[in-house]
Amino acid sequence: MVEGLEFPPNFLFGTATSSHQIEGGNVHNDWYYWELKNKLPKAGLACNSWELYEKDVRLMAELGYNAYRFSVEWSRIQPEVGEWRGDAVERYLDVLKLLREYSIEPIVTLHHFTNPMWFVKKGGWEKEENVNYFVNFVEKIVEVFKEYVRIWVTVNEPAVLAYMGWGSGEYPPFKRDAFLYFKVLRSLLIAHAEAYKVIKNADASSWIGLAKHFTLFQPARNFFLDRLAADTAHGSFNLIVVEALEKGVLPGVFIKRKYKNLRGAYDFWGVNYYTRHIIRFNPLKITSLFAEALDGVGDEVTDMGWDVYPEGLYQVLIFLKQYGKPVIITENGIATQNDGQRICFIVRHLYHVWRALREGVDVRGYMYWSFIDNYEWNHGFGPRFGLVEVDYRTFERKPKESAHFYGRLAKSKTLEKDCLEKCLMAN
Ligand code: FCB
Repeated sequence: MVEGLEFPPNFLFGTATSSHQIEGGNVHNDWYYWELKNKLPKAGLACNSWELYEKDVRLMAELGYNAYRFSVEWSRIQPEVGEWRGDAVERYLDVLKLLREYSIEPIVTLHHFTNPMWFVKKGGWEKEENVNYFVNFVEKIVEVFKEYVRIWVTVNEPAVLAYMGWGSGEYPPFKRDAFLYFKVLRSLLIAHAEAYKVIKNADASSWIGLAKHFTLFQPARNFFLDRLAADTAHGSFNLIVVEALEKGVLPGVFIKRKYKNLRGAYDFWGVNYYTRHIIRFNPLKITSLFAEALDGVGDEVTDMGWDVYPEGLYQVLIFLKQYGKPVIITENGIATQNDGQRICFIVRHLYHVWRALREGVDVRGYMYWSFIDNYEWNHGFGPRFGLVEVDYRTFERKPKESAHFYGRLAKSKTLEKDCLEKCLMAN
């Protein structure tokens, strides 16, 4: 029989979003460029959050959430290299002020997948020297935002962005080139290191991390080639970023370069966790280092076809314990039309966060992905990750039962016994 489980009194229970996925009207970035070419679903007005932000923040406050992670759209603020849109900055400042007014801790992401088109035309992340453009942007933004922001996420999921854009070729610029994959990943990590320095110099008390997508790679069979392929995947997806931040080593195929400013340049681990991958060795899968992922084979699968594996979050947190830095779960969520499933997804993952806390992992918060249903990148508006339902015709917001459930949890900071029993016993 389980008792109610308590979280620390100052634990952050929030939600996460990103600019292009919710704002609408972003017409200066690379996603929009490819959307026009029909290579991607059109984001259009998305959730129209650019206009409806007051409604959104008020709703968060009413529901009882005490943190909100969102991103600023670089291309909106700097639509051309020499242009700086003060009105766009003002709008983000309004969001920040409103969040502070409602005692909701803002967590600001500076780069979440999208890039200004002018930056891409200059070679984007494929050219290391272009990192300076991003650093200039960060310098200016931090000066204006620092009064309101304490927690910063520099770059969202650098390894995912590099892989999807230059490895598997599913995201802009749809390339498949191992050489460029490493170049891009290196640039993104350098961008993180330099942004870290800029923010720390501007405000020594700030708290800065990057959001790393962690996933587990488990061998399909107890067969040494499956184990080897799973270990290789873990190394090239997870350890590569961990070691970059810990040791200042930039990823590379043969030669690994050190980058001084990268070493130890983080105050917390931002953990994005969704699923695990079951790995089978396949000699034909050269580009994915002979690893074939057998996804969607578990007992419970989401609308994205991802296995639900809450125990994996515990394993990631225990793995990170050795580095002795605090952790914020910067994303965790489920695409489903079944809201009861969403509630149990949250309960089961938080149960494992609680276990990790009990074992000494310094977890400071949990951001559910996502506050509202939104544009799920190359999948468009089909997947429903939100706690709040959005009618994409009228932009009406309707909190789902999970939104209220999560609010009660955020207020009581306790996982109640009855829902624990219901959700843990269901599996
Ligand atoms: C993460 C992304 C986020 C969202 C979720 C479902 O990889 O950071 O923008 O799309 O997946």
